[in-house]
Amino acid sequence: MTSHPNECAEVLSTNTPALFANAVARAAEKLRAGQLVALPTETVYGLAAKAWDAEAVSRIFAAKGRPAINPIIVHVSSLEMARECVAAWPPAAEKLARAFWPGPLTLVLPKSTAVPSVVTAGGQTVGVRFPSHPVIKAVIEACGFPLAAPSANPSNQISPTTAEHVQSTLGTKIPLILDGGPSLVGIESTVIDLVSTPPRLLRPGMIPASALLSVLGKIGLDSGQTPATSSNALRSPGMMKKHYSPKARLLILHWSNAADLLEQLSRQGFTELKKTHVLCHTNVPSTTDYARVIVLAREPSAFARSLYAQLHECDGAGAALIIVEAPPSGDSWQAISDRLNRAAAV
Ligand code: TXA
Ligand code: MG
Repeated sequence: MTSHPNECAEVLSTNTPALFANAVARAAEKLRAGQLVALPTETVYGLAAKAWDAEAVSRIFAAKGRPAINPIIVHVSSLEMARECVAAWPPAAEKLARAFWPGPLTLVLPKSTAVPSVVTAGGQTVGVRFPSHPVIKAVIEACGFPLAAPSANPSNQISPTTAEHVQSTLGTKIPLILDGGPSLVGIESTVIDLVSTPPRLLRPGMIPASALLSVLGKIGLDSGQTPATSSNALRSPGMMKKHYSPKARLLILHWSNAADLLEQLSRQGFTELKKTHVLCHTNVPSTTDYARVIVLAREPSAFARSLYAQLHECDGAGAALIIVEAPPSGDSWQAISDRLNRAAAV
């Protein structure tokens, strides 16, 4: 059984060698038995199942309420294990893996017959990633098989970056969560499609397009912005316009000072300032009228690392409206802008 109604998941800490070893062993035992375990990765927490086990993977879709058309990334702990998941390992895969693995990059390649079709949503390609977080790496090594794992949140909601986020949203649906501390990257991996020529960026992440370009020489930029046609509609089904959404309405705004922000809000009919949370990086509105004003670093890695935790905090505090100061433009902010635009979509 993977469903535990009205019961919370057990959370195992990993911050001493003994606790780490115990948590890894307990997770591997459950995964071998076809159960689900939430695990920390450097990007966000994942909800893992044995990738070779179609029944175990189908439990992920049930726990998340995930549409069956959305394929799941397979996580490996070596290049050899990655090759077991794919039917072809082109030079571009070798170059990218050598440059960025272990790390926040997912390669979409032709799937091998070992990967059940439930993992790939019936498609012929599979997304493969070698994560760098020591806990998931150790769990995959202990299992000896790859783990299918989407982000550990109910479908379409904000990804979790702490064990508490997972407990509060999926805790009644899974038996075990390993706590590996807050995720270091904070937003989901860069996804690149190596089946297309030239390779195509499907989801921007903190490994920016320029870094992929410097390794590959040429890539197509398609981060879900182009209109869906019959040929590309299902290439990256997770990149829907509205995704990664907090419960509160989210607006991305530019303002020059506190009065300008207030004026923009009242012009748009937003008057409930006591339920409005402001996340800013440059122009800090000097008014106490808002529920919270949070200053994030004007530096993309630090901003990404705390963004989802702040959005979870806003939702937890019952925010009606979240105002985010528009991020700077530029390649290193692309993934942050992408997630904010999806969170703002209505
Ligand atoms: O950082 C991450 O990638 C996290 C951690 C847990 O590894 N995982 C994650 O998984 O974000 P998920 O399922 O929340 O998002 C995976 C994205 C979706 O947009 C999905 O459609 C896309 O990757 N994807 C997965 N397999 C694919 C495939 N074969 N072809 C195209 N897109 C694929
Ligand atoms: Mg997700």
